[in-house]
Amino acid sequence: MCEDVAKQLEQLKSQLAIHNYRYYVLDEPSITDAEYDDLYKQLVALEAQHPELITPDSPTQRVGDTPREGMASVPHPIKLYSLSNVFNAEELAEWARRAGDDGSLDLGECPYVAELKLDGLAVSLLYHNGLLVRALTRGDGTTGEDITANVRTIHSIPLKIPVAPCEIPVPEWLEVRGEVVMPITSFLALNQRQEELGQKLFANPRNAGAGAVRQLDPKMTAARNLDAYLYDAHRLAFIGGTVENPNLSESNEALAATHWQSLEQLATWGFKVNPVRKACQTLSNVEQFISQWDHDRHTLDVASDGIVIKINSLAVQDALGFTAKSPRWATAWKYPPEVKTTVVKAIELSLGRTGVITPVAILEPVKLAGTTVQRASLHNFEELAKKDVRVGDTVRVQKAAEIIPEVLGVDMRGPEPQPQPYVAPILCPACGAHTHQYEGEVALRCSNPLTCPAQQQLRLEHWVSRNALDIAGVGSALIEQLIAAGHIHTPADLYRLTVDQLATLERMGEKSAQNAIAAIEASKQQPLHRLLVAMGIRHVGSEAALLLAKPFGNLAALANTTVEELIAIDGIGPKVADSVVAFFTLPQTQMLLDELEILGLNLTQQGGGALELLSNALEGQSIVVTGTLPTLSREQAETLIRQHGGKPASSVSKKTAFVVAGEAAGSKLTKAEALGVPVLSEATFLECLKNRT
Ligand code: IVH
Repeated sequence: MCEDVAKQLEQLKSQLAIHNYRYYVLDEPSITDAEYDDLYKQLVALEAQHPELITPDSPTQRVGDTPREGMASVPHPIKLYSLSNVFNAEELAEWARRAGDDGSLDLGECPYVAELKLDGLAVSLLYHNGLLVRALTRGDGTTGEDITANVRTIHSIPLKIPVAPCEIPVPEWLEVRGEVVMPITSFLALNQRQEELGQKLFANPRNAGAGAVRQLDPKMTAARNLDAYLYDAHRLAFIGGTVENPNLSESNEALAATHWQSLEQLATWGFKVNPVRKACQTLSNVEQFISQWDHDRHTLDVASDGIVIKINSLAVQDALGFTAKSPRWATAWKYPPEVKTTVVKAIELSLGRTGVITPVAILEPVKLAGTTVQRASLHNFEELAKKDVRVGDTVRVQKAAEIIPEVLGVDMRGPEPQPQPYVAPILCPACGAHTHQYEGEVALRCSNPLTCPAQQQLRLEHWVSRNALDIAGVGSALIEQLIAAGHIHTPADLYRLTVDQLATLERMGEKSAQNAIAAIEASKQQPLHRLLVAMGIRHVGSEAALLLAKPFGNLAALANTTVEELIAIDGIGPKVADSVVAFFTLPQTQMLLDELEILGLNLTQQGGGALELLSNALEGQSIVVTGTLPTLSREQAETLIRQHGGKPASSVSKKTAFVVAGEAAGSKLTKAEALGVPVLSEATFLECLKNRT
């Protein structure tokens, strides 16, 4: 029996690994997401029944549970060098001559490989007998940081190689190097989320990616949607308890004769290899490639800042060796950022969703790094004052990290110069409330987050969202309609809506109107910590909200607290404390709280019933209890689920997070198995919750 299960597990794992590879590496999925999810759920269910058979290469093990305390420093078996740079054709030719193109070395038929230089974070991956056992950052080149748990969350990095059967054997110890990158689309989405949370924006995908890889909690890394392109492989040996490189020349050449071959080999083993590469017979082929990609790289979803040119023959690479800093056999052509000049037609104020007011230059359209630019951020009023940009001026613009247009500075004053520098607004352009700056921040904000019309839509979307008051049936489209119809301005207005008002809106029937009103009504009973999340206090997410709600128990007590009292709470720092006190000092907050009380919202942590919230480990999860459990009654189990933020449900569907099953479980268990919903015993369920209180 156990052997059968083991075989079934192996089959599921290798099927999933191949589909994962097709999806994340080749971008050519051959099954639908639902089919993939189905296979995945089968694996989860089988592993839940046989936890002793879970292996580290299982796709369920990409994200571990435990955040680490810190990151260990580990020496690199082979030093990671950096690259020398060339900026023009003469320098490139000079590099080539020194690399043997003066006839001193036999460079072969195809002397060069040119590759797009991706702007990310260099990593070194170590595989032992095909299993990913360690990942290090570059660090100072000699010692790196251990980022294994985080790198395991990157789907395009195989946990086990070869991903599919392959003729070339994988060496016992293999080091693979490459670049971890954050796709531009993920970077932009991340910054949007950061803005919504009132958090600092990342300057470019490289910084955001580096931050993600160095998170102590791998779940945070997993959420950042990273990718990795590999470009180098070395065979290593295990000597005297450490992994070492016995002989450099042997280590590469044993795998392949040319760099091009070793890239192809990496691809065959299942790694993602930079598709923008070319084997070049002459230096002028290299130059053509460079000029083609200076333009075309802007069409890609990854940031790149140049082209790496490498000597193709690995024997020649070994003969050339390294200077103190960089290999003689490679160099990087750096693309200078494109800078253009254009005229500032106006300076507008843009109000971010969290009330940050940003000056934006409206420009005479100009073609820049692949797109036509008509607006460019002036970042903040301090920057604007420093650059002293005025309407009518001719300014220099470039794209920061090739992505976000920015004004570098004034090139020439306008023909009819504005007499004064631009003055930062003292009132919010949308609602007239005073603007203010938090200490230590450069951002200027509208002080009225609750009723400022520019922030309305997002505030309301946030209010009804899952981690906040979780009002099913009221989504962004409905909120938009309700604002347009003048029915709602503030969250309190939600609780005054009538079925009739809703039913007259587009695409809203009587039934869905009733459901939405019922969901709004039910949300009044949500416990305090969810209400705190809903209010959108800066720096207060689910975790902090729970820490605040537990000791105070009700909103009035929290609203009257001091920074000192807040800091005394374990897990609450001065930043959160300041933000909470500032929020409750706002007159608009007080008005809203009074309204919410009159409207009958629960302002205590006691939930609907007398329920103490222990954690939010099961937040947003729908869980079914079935059969007779060994120690808990059904009610006790359901109370536990609620106490950890979950929702007990009575029937099993695809949306069920998991089922807790006991003796004589019947149709619900069968259905869970059929749908591939994980089934947990009471013991496993309790184990999961153990460290979360
Ligand atoms: S080869 C011995 N190839 O550029 C150094 N590096 O300064 C060999 N990079 O952070 C590096 N794309 O990670 C090489 N196709 C590529 C690359 C590449 C990006 C990064 C590298 C390092 C920096 C070198």
